[in-house]
Amino acid sequence: MPSALNPFVWDRPVDDPSKIVGMDGFANQVALILTGQTNVALFGPRDTGKTTFINQLALELAKSHGDDAPPFDVLRVNLQRVVSIPGFIGCVHDAMVGHPEKRLRRAAQRQIGALEKEIGFDIKVIKGSMRSPASVPAQDAETLHAQLLALRSLSEHLVVVFDEFQRLRHCPGDPLAIIRSALMSSGANHVSLLFTGSIRNALQMMLERSDEPIFGEAAQLQLPEINRVDFLEYLDFQFEASGKRADEDALEYLLNATGGHPRSTQQLAWECWLAVPAGGRVTLETVIRAHNGLVQTIERSEFAAVLSVLMGGDEGEINEVRALQLVADRGGDTVTSRAIALLDGFSSHSRVPAALDRLQRRGLVDRRDRSWYIVDPLFAEWLRRASPLIDRPIPAEEDD
Ligand SMILES: Nc1ncnc2c1ncn2[C@@H]1O[C@H](COP(=O)(O)OP(=O)(O)OP(=O)(O)O)[C@@H](O)[C@H]1O
Ligand SMILES: [Mg+2]
Repeated sequence: MPSALNPFVWDRPVDDPSKIVGMDGFANQVALILTGQTNVALFGPRDTGKTTFINQLALELAKSHGDDAPPFDVLRVNLQRVVSIPGFIGCVHDAMVGHPEKRLRRAAQRQIGALEKEIGFDIKVIKGSMRSPASVPAQDAETLHAQLLALRSLSEHLVVVFDEFQRLRHCPGDPLAIIRSALMSSGANHVSLLFTGSIRNALQMMLERSDEPIFGEAAQLQLPEINRVDFLEYLDFQFEASGKRADEDALEYLLNATGGHPRSTQQLAWECWLAVPAGGRVTLETVIRAHNGLVQTIERSEFAAVLSVLMGGDEGEINEVRALQLVADRGGDTVTSRAIALLDGFSSHSRVPAALDRLQRRGLVDRRDRSWYIVDPLFAEWLRRASPLIDRPIPAEEDD
């Protein structure tokens, strides 16, 4: 039974619908907006389930919702590493010929074949390193445009997802204008777009700035958190179904430790699962130990690497480190406190907001209900444990 072997997925987006927790309602809501011909911009911090949600959404869109709401096909373009138009072309190519559904994959291969005949060269030449030196940016833009036109003819009811859309802000050659002309013009009424992004400001800037061509064209939504009880039930069920029952207090501790953060929760559950022999029980102690182990791995993670780059930086970057520590130690409601800011080494508490802003642009912190928090709960815990200040009393607040 494969689910017994791998009850918790944390190293890739979840595609097994029986393992996607708590997204049905939201998928239904987003599907209604998209099929109603409105584009959607979806924000969600790193590792909180955007790509997983796209999988759930594709299932939802594949359903027919009655005569006037036929099923929609979904094509996901992963822009994670795109910084140029040729790179963009490569990703669209991969999305088309690598579509999980055979019918669309075949249609895509046909379309790309026809396109290559028309432009007289192989798209993969652009994608690979063997580019002809004669190819110039204007040509690349034209190729991308033609390719997106081919893409839109893949289906009569199509949702195109640009995952990690904010990456395009560093892409020269005006990719947004090309998207707009190919996928948002009069010939594209059967196409709706979903933009996802993990850096809130960047995504918003791209959509809202009036000189950007996507201006005002998308409904902005935030990926909801997974309901705690839903997550609890899921964990409970997965442990039990795989022959390793978990104690109630163990599961409570687990969810508290991760704050219900999707990836960390699954990762911690998986570590607990590994730590217990077949037929064994997951206890509070199992979870505490597994959690400690995971917090220690942050030492060798990208978070520690980013931190050490910041530590070696200018005053602004050092202030980012201070702000991280401040949020980790004292929580995100205290960031306006003057005494605390000084304790953490800021020359003035007026420097805190700018530092938080920069951290937010890096995707390391975010805001929920006006309170700042560190997006990754294991990183937050690691910072707290390494904090030189955690036991220092906070001086009484002075008046400004
Ligand atoms: N709805 C969900 N139910 C259960 N687990 C989830 C869900 N969404 C996400 N996860 C967990 O979070 C992990 C990361 O999910 P996913 O890759 O979809 O996030 P993402 O926001 O696209 O991340 P990135 O910013 O790295 O692209 C998954 O491997 C899984 O463990
Ligand atoms: Mg993703």
